[in-house]
Amino acid sequence: MKAETITINYSQCAISELEAVDGNLIKESQNAIEGSYSPYSKFRVGAAVLLSNGEIVRGANQENCAYPSGMCAERVALYYAGANYKNNDVIAIAVTAKNEKGEFTEVYPCGSCLQVLQETQSRAKQKLRIIVQKDTELVQIFNGIESLMPFSFNL
Ligand code: THU
Repeated sequence: MKAETITINYSQCAISELEAVDGNLIKESQNAIEGSYSPYSKFRVGAAVLLSNGEIVRGANQENCAYPSGMCAERVALYYAGANYKNNDVIAIAVTAKNEKGEFTEVYPCGSCLQVLQETQSRAKQKLRIIVQKDTELVQIFNGIESLMPFSFNL
């Protein structure tokens, strides 16, 4: 048996250092938090998806008293994009969260969202940029779903 190693490449910087297009996308994901319906977790998440036509689609987590019926911000935005902009590829997604105190807090896409992001990238036939906000100031940028989910299911 041979041990193998995977390297994950990503960048980290201050929001103020992002290129304009990504800075705007993070800002849109912050604004998207306003649409969160999260009375159960009180964890508010916003996502902003950049389409190939330059438009930005926003999503926020939607919870339900039947817990599994809820939906993450990322998939709310991605499914909206899929349903309404079928002919536009998804180029990038930014995700931001606020905790119960209203402070920006770290968030990474959950396993189910990663699977959907994997197929989103596959449909676009180009690397998907994933930008996650770490705290008030910092973001991490992943160039391609492989960086967050190196082994993924695909048909
Ligand atoms: N949530 C998201 O919307 N996106 C993530 O990346 C992580 C989790 C939501 C689901 C649920 O409404 C709340 O955050 C707590 O899990």
